[in-house]
Amino acid sequence: MALKNNNVFDCSIIDMSKINATTGNITVLENGVNVPFDVKRVYYLYDVPSGEERGGHAHYELEQYIVAASGSFDVILDDGVNQRRISLNRPNLALHIVPGLWRELDSFSSGSITLVLASEIYDEQDYIRNYTEYLKLKIKK
Ligand code: TYD
Repeated sequence: MALKNNNVFDCSIIDMSKINATTGNITVLENGVNVPFDVKRVYYLYDVPSGEERGGHAHYELEQYIVAASGSFDVILDDGVNQRRISLNRPNLALHIVPGLWRELDSFSSGSITLVLASEIYDEQDYIRNYTEYLKLKIKK
């Protein structure tokens, strides 16, 4: 399978805006409205121990939105040439990660919740979990 030729600058932070009131805020995510892919799966990370790292993989096809639904953490994007470290700390901001990029997550605050909206169902065949292999596939492009 070919790895998509995207780079870290193809990823962007989307301000999803919020419906706010003195009683609290609501942020809405809708397929085709403020999410540019059809959401097939939603999952969330929580109870991540202090100092832990997650991610450490790339996807062939899957794209995703990552939201700090609570607390904060950093996402490190890597396309084999460039790296970007992006801090997420507001529930109305989503990081859109396009396919073909290596990502790691770290600096999780206590009690943080990482909400992920994914364009595909879970499929281990879509993952590249070895960074050396990722670089080889990326350089072939
Ligand atoms: P993994 O992708 O390694 O997590 P992260 O990228 O957040 O560090 O997934 C951890 C485990 O959970 C692994 O055994 C695969 C499994 N898993 C599923 O079964 N379904 C899913 O939708 C996800 C995201 C993970």
